[in-house]
Amino acid sequence: MNEEIAEKLDIGIVVSSNTYCIVDLGCSAGPYTFAAVNNIIKAVKSKQRPYFPNPKISSVTLMIMRELYNKTTLREETAKESRELSEAYPMAGGDGLHSYANNSSLQREALDLAKVIMMKEIAEKLETETVVCSNTFCIADLGCSVGPNTFAAVEKIIEGVKLKYESLGLVSEIPEFQVFFNDHVTNDFNLLFTSLPQDKPYYAAGVPGSFYGRLFPEASIHFFHSSTSLQWLSRVPKEVVNKTSPAWNKGRIHYSNSRVEVIQAYKAQFDEDMERFLQARALEIVYGGLMVLIIPGIPNGASHSQSLENMIYDLLGSCLMDMAQKEIIQEEKVDSINIPAYFTTPQELEAAVERNGCFNIERTEILREAWGTLPNAHQAASHIRACMGGVIKQHFKDDIIDKLFDLYHKKLEETLPFVFESGKRMDLFVLLKRKPIISPFFPLKY
Ligand SMILES: C[S@@+](CC[C@H](N)C(=O)[O-])C[C@H]1O[C@@H](n2cnc3c(N)ncnc32)[C@H](O)[C@@H]1O
Repeated sequence: MNEEIAEKLDIGIVVSSNTYCIVDLGCSAGPYTFAAVNNIIKAVKSKQRPYFPNPKISSVTLMIMRELYNKTTLREETAKESRELSEAYPMAGGDGLHSYANNSSLQREALDLAKVIMMKEIAEKLETETVVCSNTFCIADLGCSVGPNTFAAVEKIIEGVKLKYESLGLVSEIPEFQVFFNDHVTNDFNLLFTSLPQDKPYYAAGVPGSFYGRLFPEASIHFFHSSTSLQWLSRVPKEVVNKTSPAWNKGRIHYSNSRVEVIQAYKAQFDEDMERFLQARALEIVYGGLMVLIIPGIPNGASHSQSLENMIYDLLGSCLMDMAQKEIIQEEKVDSINIPAYFTTPQELEAAVERNGCFNIERTEILREAWGTLPNAHQAASHIRACMGGVIKQHFKDDIIDKLFDLYHKKLEETLPFVFESGKRMDLFVLLKRKPIISPFFPLKY
């Protein structure tokens, strides 16, 4: 094969982007598939000659590539981080009683509210010229989990894009759609793929890995979407588990009622993660490409102890402390577990985007403050179990889950009315657009 690649490969076919795409059909579970593709990549690389100057590359592509090549260090750094960012707490897989698939109606409500705004924004802000290089429109859903919410989201995006083409009288130019479903490696991708809608209007692929690192080739995605996922941090801030640090979070599993150093450590982790997220996406999205983020957070000016989600996590922490007092688990184990989630304010999020500088904020909208359908204690416990069960299982090797969530359910029955009455929350919709390059050498804006 290597000899044939050396002889027959025409590098001129990589004209339209800087991505060489390989597919291994019937890959099974490895390791042969990895060996095969590595071998192909090696052979292609040894065949390659430098790109510049290459008369077959359009001036637009050349422009993109020049800017991207200037960012080589960044590119290498983000690729490395992607491998290192391995703290993963996926939602409960499968389709059983405690699964995320059956306990994600609250997240679905946020998505449903976002649909109308998203369709309007696509109609107004999508630039069909961003699909310059091929007839494929690439969408990625980051933190897709197992469905069905992710399928509903991507179908809505596709509907919006098609309508935009139709409204411009470009029906014959409607592209094909490629959808990438991204989540942690340990996500239940098997369930995701087996439940893909049969009549889906797109080609589907799974992309495993942390969205805090690089996931896609440069300038290859036209539309990013991420819903109820960016509140998850890439890791628990190191200081909060360090006994010698003033930010040690003893006796608590989250930051809401903790001392200021703990809150600062969480906020710093959020800022660092957002920068990584935006930096990676800035490289992967085409210029003019759109990104929709739906993020649960708290209103500007609200304190973290007023956050509804934080109150619910605090209650879970108090259940763990109760179990420690009854010596069902060790207190030290409770001291060392922290939930890696941060609920941002709109101002903090906007500041993170401004600092990064690669995207324009096209729209921010509060989708809802209270949950539409208030869950009862049983539903709330099931919901938190589907999302947090993984974090807890990873930390307490013993199977304490049933006992913990029985206790949690009881406490929720007592406190939920107060939490709903006094807790503050919101789901935030943010639309970002990749800024164009405007350089003295290439003053063109596209
Ligand atoms: C609450 S679920 C939301 C799923 C889906 N987007 C929805 O709206 O129903 C959050 C998802 O984000 C994923 N996630 C969290 N951090 C991630 C990361 N760094 N990289 C990729 N996925 C991540 C989790 O594994 C989980 O599946």
